[in-house]
Amino acid sequence: MKIHVLTLFPDMFTNFLQESMVGIALKQKAIEVNLIDIRDFAHDKHRTTDDYPYGGGAGMVMKPEPLYEAILFAKQGKEIPVIYFTPQGKLLKQPTVFEYSKIDELIILCGRYKEIDQRIRDTLVTVEFSIGDYVLSGGEIPAMVFIDAVARLQKGVLGDIDSALTDSHQNGILGCPHYTRPPEFNGLKVPDVLISGNHKKIEEWRAEKALEITRKNRPDLLGNDE
Ligand code: ADE
Repeated sequence: MKIHVLTLFPDMFTNFLQESMVGIALKQKAIEVNLIDIRDFAHDKHRTTDDYPYGGGAGMVMKPEPLYEAILFAKQGKEIPVIYFTPQGKLLKQPTVFEYSKIDELIILCGRYKEIDQRIRDTLVTVEFSIGDYVLSGGEIPAMVFIDAVARLQKGVLGDIDSALTDSHQNGILGCPHYTRPPEFNGLKVPDVLISGNHKKIEEWRAEKALEITRKNRPDLLGNDE
């Protein structure tokens, strides 16, 4: 999977791309990330990429020309989906991550300042996602969230594919509690069922706990109001 990232802050990705699962996915060539600095597509001597909003008001807007050129450069004439991260986008959820993890090549556009010029959104952006109901200073962290989420789903990246299949949100609900050694820690014991060796009972216990946690923390996932 090849991901082009259009950003004003490519250095933000340096460590992120080297560590943990994403680092492994890159080393295994399960994913490839091409960082493109939007500022390289500015033409004036100050390499300006933002300007005042028409109609006035606070905040700057990212200019259309550098974005247009940067997107066309990334596309190289190919039909590649362009994802734009904005708090105005559709909430990114695991089924969508799963769907996008199967795409061969895509472009992620990271906005900054107040927003990007609407004409780029209207003509070049395929889909807009938000990662939650809060406002970040730019799309770089959402882009990292997305890259991490799709990278760990690539074949051969997770040691044990089951660990993706039992994640929270994979089945529309949250995951169950997990324990590791020692069997007793600070007087707290691992539930007996998990050391019983009875796989049917273990699965039943996990399903029940997953439901319990979902009911408590995310009743909306079960179709209930808060
Ligand atoms: N850009 C700024 N805030 C964001 C959010 N919550 N999700 C996606 N992109 C963003």
